[in-house]
Amino acid sequence: MANCLQDSDDVVALKRAAAHAAVAEIESGMLVGLGTGTTVSLAIAALGERVLAGLRIDIVATSRITALQARAAGLSVLAFDTRAGVDLAIDGADELDPDLRAIKGRGGAMLREKIVAAAAARMVVIVDASKEVTALGRGLLPIETLPFAAGFVSRRIERLGAAVSLRMAGSAPFLTDQRNIVLDCRFGVIGDCEGLAQALSAIPGMLGHGLFLDEIDAAYVGRKDGIARLTR
Ligand code: 5RP
Repeated sequence: MANCLQDSDDVVALKRAAAHAAVAEIESGMLVGLGTGTTVSLAIAALGERVLAGLRIDIVATSRITALQARAAGLSVLAFDTRAGVDLAIDGADELDPDLRAIKGRGGAMLREKIVAAAAARMVVIVDASKEVTALGRGLLPIETLPFAAGFVSRRIERLGAAVSLRMAGSAPFLTDQRNIVLDCRFGVIGDCEGLAQALSAIPGMLGHGLFLDEIDAAYVGRKDGIARLTR
């Protein structure tokens, strides 16, 4: 669901190698928060292999699709709603800058992903090199919005300088797992990420934006010359 376009075999191989490296950080006894997307699905497969080999962990999932994939891989999936925290969050990203700030949400799960990231003692992201940017804003910034507030929130975001479009799934609006809509917002290169995040958070009806500025502790980047482990 995260990528409408099919990744090339090379990109899948880089994502898989990075996913394996991230999954190697997981230790028995951990509660692991899993993000959503094609990269996370590769991490789930790698985790399934480790669980078969004896690793004992539980996971919480940031989307229905991740929960389904995780159960199919033999993982123990717990509900998040009674949990105050998780040991480690593992997730993908759409853009990653050199300061480990990211844009997420092109798969539409950024609201739950941000909650689990905030609840995590550590967050690790997995990307292939095509996601690396020098500055965030190369592509769209997804923003989950209450359907009731669609027009109002769109106008407020336009006033912040973006071109806003409603994400569609065929002829109907795309709905998140919470049955909210997603506004895909083109800001261009974002000069002041913190200022933009604050301005977005102040809009009533804006439920969750895809800027992850403080959450990420480490990243595994699949590059042609190997896996880079980046930290803050
Ligand atoms: C979902 C996300 C994904 O992590 C992001 O879209 C990357 O997806 P993929 O791993 O499929 O490239 O933020 O909300």
